[in-house]
Amino acid sequence: MSEQRVCVSDFEKEARKVLPKAVYDYYRSGADEQKTLGDNVAAFNRWYLVPRVLRDVSSVDLSVSVLGQRLSMPLCVAATAMQRMAHPEGETATARACRAVGTGMMLSSWATSTIEEVMSAMTASPHAGGVLWLQLYIYKDRELTLSLVRRAEEAGYKAIFVTVDTPYLGRRWDDMRNRFKLPPHLSMSNFSTASLAFSEGNYGNDSGLAVYVAKAIDPTLCWEDISWLKKHTHLPVIVKGVLNGEDAVQAVNHGVSGILVSNHGARQLDGVPATLDVLEEVVQAVQGRCDVYLDGGVRRGTDVLKALALGAKAVFIGRPVLWGLACQVKNHTLIRLSQEGVRDSPSHPHSY
Ligand SMILES: Cc1cc2nc3c(=O)[nH]c(=O)nc-3n(C[C@H](O)[C@H](O)[C@H](O)COP(=O)(O)O)c2cc1C
Repeated sequence: MSEQRVCVSDFEKEARKVLPKAVYDYYRSGADEQKTLGDNVAAFNRWYLVPRVLRDVSSVDLSVSVLGQRLSMPLCVAATAMQRMAHPEGETATARACRAVGTGMMLSSWATSTIEEVMSAMTASPHAGGVLWLQLYIYKDRELTLSLVRRAEEAGYKAIFVTVDTPYLGRRWDDMRNRFKLPPHLSMSNFSTASLAFSEGNYGNDSGLAVYVAKAIDPTLCWEDISWLKKHTHLPVIVKGVLNGEDAVQAVNHGVSGILVSNHGARQLDGVPATLDVLEEVVQAVQGRCDVYLDGGVRRGTDVLKALALGAKAVFIGRPVLWGLACQVKNHTLIRLSQEGVRDSPSHPHSY
């Protein structure tokens, strides 16, 4: 019998064994030399907890209100793209898990399940609780962008997290080496054309995703676009990817409902500070005018506690969910065979 998994790194170790290398690399990697990747985690170790004793802790209520919804705990799921590479049910499985524990899930624009499918998975689950938010990339095609927002509104999503740190994709060396792209049985399900669904096939010698972003995502994005987005939706808008007080003030001035302090899991600019290290600056700049959330490197309950103590309303996790999905796959051999078959296939010599 395999050993009991007790912490996130146990799940990661097992996920590494069962996932195809290029998938594991895509999920794990940070940008460039990955200095910020390590620092996101290390920052939590620079803070110590000073416990008070002899307080009655027999009944503890972790619930919190996030964007108008009551959650069972201040720990939510961040958007991570293409979850069906980890588990055949991908985002729909994550939604069921969030429902079961009563927390929130941010669905990636680049999900391998549709906005509607994920909502059905969540609401069909027998458990009570759980809320869905949409993570939005702003495409050069603004009508396409707004169509995602409209679909989210109609399906019952409760907020839009707009990602503001990805005008171009970070240089992720492993993805460049692996010429990363989706396996042919998967696509970014919210898009109807092959090129927008990232299933077109020919991305040259680069990371396929980097080529995709350069083609499709709008690098001209600026603060006026936050006002533009707010004009087109009744849902709360949260900016995801703020790392300093000045931008936080701009965000407040543009009427956002929340700020997610994030460096995209260290996958965009390498050399930026760990998110925990800039949290206090953002909280102070905002002065309670909107909620402040954090993601990046949260791996233990005590990390959540430290972020809350420094002013976050709630925190989000990215990679740990992917490791959890990979560990839930019933038949790894089948997944590996189908995915590695693609890698070894002569017609796709370097794909995947
Ligand atoms: C594999 C992977 C895919 C991601 N995809 C997206 C995405 O589609 N949109 C987005 O805004 N952020 C994306 N992120 C960033 C996460 O939302 C989040 O900011 C980050 O993972 C938090 O750090 P952690 O992984 O250390 O918990 C992704 C992160 C990972 C690891």
